[in-house]
Amino acid sequence: MSTHPPVYDRLLRELTAVYQGRLKPPVSEFEIPTKCYTDEALFEEERRLLRELPVVVAHVSQLASPGSCLVHDALGAPLMILRNREGALRAMFNVCRHRGTRLLEDEGFCKVRKGFLCRYHGWNYDIDGKLVNVPKQELFPSLEKEAHNLVSVPVHERFGFVWVVATPGDDYDFDSFLDPLEADLQPLKLDTHVVFRRGTATRRTNWKIVMEAFLDGYHVRHLHKNTVGPYFQDHQSFTEAAGPHVRSIVGRSGFSDAIENDAIENIRDIATPTYVFFPNTIFVVQPDFVSRATVYPLSIDEIYWEHDLIIPEAPKTEKARAHWELNYELIQNGVFDKEDLWVCEQIQKGIGSGANEFLTCGTEEAPIYWWHEELSKRLRA
Ligand code: FES
Ligand SMILES: [Fe+2]
Repeated sequence: MSTHPPVYDRLLRELTAVYQGRLKPPVSEFEIPTKCYTDEALFEEERRLLRELPVVVAHVSQLASPGSCLVHDALGAPLMILRNREGALRAMFNVCRHRGTRLLEDEGFCKVRKGFLCRYHGWNYDIDGKLVNVPKQELFPSLEKEAHNLVSVPVHERFGFVWVVATPGDDYDFDSFLDPLEADLQPLKLDTHVVFRRGTATRRTNWKIVMEAFLDGYHVRHLHKNTVGPYFQDHQSFTEAAGPHVRSIVGRSGFSDAIENDAIENIRDIATPTYVFFPNTIFVVQPDFVSRATVYPLSIDEIYWEHDLIIPEAPKTEKARAHWELNYELIQNGVFDKEDLWVCEQIQKGIGSGANEFLTCGTEEAPIYWWHEELSKRLRA
């Protein structure tokens, strides 16, 4: 048996019990009121909560060299996340301290050479956000420059990802939030991986509808029947809460045979672990790569989708490149975009119609229940 995260041994035992019909469903049927997708006040609270929690914004390989920077607005606040000259990660509001101009204009990855020069009146900041020059400073006789550095937000590197909290401050207890994922993610050594490609999209749907699509194993045999559906045996899965997050594993074709004959070479060939990092990140451990996708609400009925396909090493040959191209095409374009996000837009169209006052969920949709519970608990708090 290959080396793999020990947590998978337990997950395989649980999944085997599911296949053998020995596990009771973790929850009974439940309903979700459709007004939870249309209530503007609730939506504003959710957006506020998203800015108070750690969210993955990049893989470390995307911010590896000094000066590499990500301009990121999708959390509803203009942010820049960068690697400074000493090699430390910094995250700051991308907002001038004079009259508030956004400093770096284009969203996405860029290179910061010296620092940030505001186009409006020329205030100048170094790469760590320190205000270094104010043109005609005598116009501000009482200005304390040190009090006008760019405003930091907490940033943290763990499991090969860059996590940000979009609220002013330097400190956040990332560890208590992320520790429940340690046993699963640490052994994957994703910090040595690279991103093959980032796929982004905006779609007309509420963000919770998208999260639900990735907390639901029930749809795979139907919605994905022409793409990845056939890779899975009977679409059986085991799911559980992992702190605020959700951990699942689903059996691939050959799962039962491999278990029966004790012929497991690589667990990822016979079962696919998937996670939702609360609140808005989807993580899928495919046989030879991983997918990390984050869902950002832009408005109550629109999302921004960001998916990084993460591979063990940069492709060295045309054959390797073609292999990852095929996977990207299948997963990002075929499955996520044309199937999952497509169906979410279809649901959105029906949400406000009055056809359903409640959405009905079965026992296999248990993770949706846990995720909503966690969300409600945190909103109440
Ligand atoms: S707003 Fe940036 S220098 Fe005036
Ligand atoms: Fe799906």
